Amino acid sequence: MSNVPVHTLNNGTNFPAIGLGTWPLDDADAERAVTEALRLGYRLVDTATNYRNEAGVGLGVARSGVPREEVVVTTKLPGRHHGYEETLASFEESRRRLGLDYVDLYLIHWPLPRVDKYVDSWRAMIKLREDGLVRSIGVSNFTREHIERLEKETGVLPSVNQIELHPYFPQEELRAFHAAKGIVTESWSPLGRGSDLLDDPVVAGIAEAHGVTPGQVVLRWHTQLGAVPIPKSSDPGRQRENLDVFGFELDPGQLRAIADREHRRQGGDPATHEEF
Ligand SMILES: NC(=O)c1ccc[n+]([C@@H]2O[C@H](COP(=O)([O-])OP(=O)(O)OC[C@H]3O[C@@H](n4cnc5c(N)ncnc54)[C@H](OP(=O)(O)O)[C@@H]3O)[C@@H](O)[C@H]2O)c1
Repeated sequence: MSNVPVHTLNNGTNFPAIGLGTWPLDDADAERAVTEALRLGYRLVDTATNYRNEAGVGLGVARSGVPREEVVVTTKLPGRHHGYEETLASFEESRRRLGLDYVDLYLIHWPLPRVDKYVDSWRAMIKLREDGLVRSIGVSNFTREHIERLEKETGVLPSVNQIELHPYFPQEELRAFHAAKGIVTESWSPLGRGSDLLDDPVVAGIAEAHGVTPGQVVLRWHTQLGAVPIPKSSDPGRQRENLDVFGFELDPGQLRAIADREHRRQGGDPATHEEF
């Protein structure tokens, strides 16, 4: 059993409060990282068709010895497969690569508004959930406008929106919108990959005050915002460290200080980013 706290999604499903990212691991490294992480107590794993490691992730789940029903496996629909039939076919390929009977959470990876097929894909995701092949459906990199369109045209809200979120890009408005709609916010690049966040003196000072590491401070910041971070690490020591963030509490001043910096994205803008 794992003692990671859980959120309840808007369809009544349990969703762990922290997970493991797997980009840019290849199949062999993903298998090792997922096996190790599940044995340490992780119960949420994030992959995508475009990470090209679904087979490794599936083997990691199978070899970990953790009962399948305890693990939340997430994968994502790539841009080149937007469209109703294309989504159904793409999902089937993902499910086969993962070697699973069902996928726990299926996300549209990017909205690609210029392609303008994400509503068709969403209808296919609803069908996959109705057919029991997917437990929960969600989106990634969607803005408020994209989500409102899904709701208006299908009446079905996502359970999760996985977005770029870290102290350099705290996304207050989108998080507030999610909270109002009962959508769980999942944070990608939660440690601000590629930035100097973990060397930041403010984060270091707060870490010292709590006797934890800078990475733990940043991950705790996410969980106290109510967001679900999915830090990637292939190192068992850092995986263990990243999971161990529920035993201390940041105070309101510390929460503010962590994100009190010039805000900027590290990744693409959902309004324009195209990834197929
Ligand atoms: N939906 C999307 O469009 C999207 C986009 C980007 C990412 N993602 C997902 O989000 C996951 C996480 O994002 P990310 O990989 O971009 O960035 P991240 O998790 O913020 O950072 C990962 C980097 O931090 C290092 N690291 C991990 N734990 C650490 C610690 N405690 N102290 C110091 N360094 C640490 C890792 O190295 P080691 O492995 O050596 O520990 C790795 O280089 C991805 O793996 C992927 O699953 C989704």
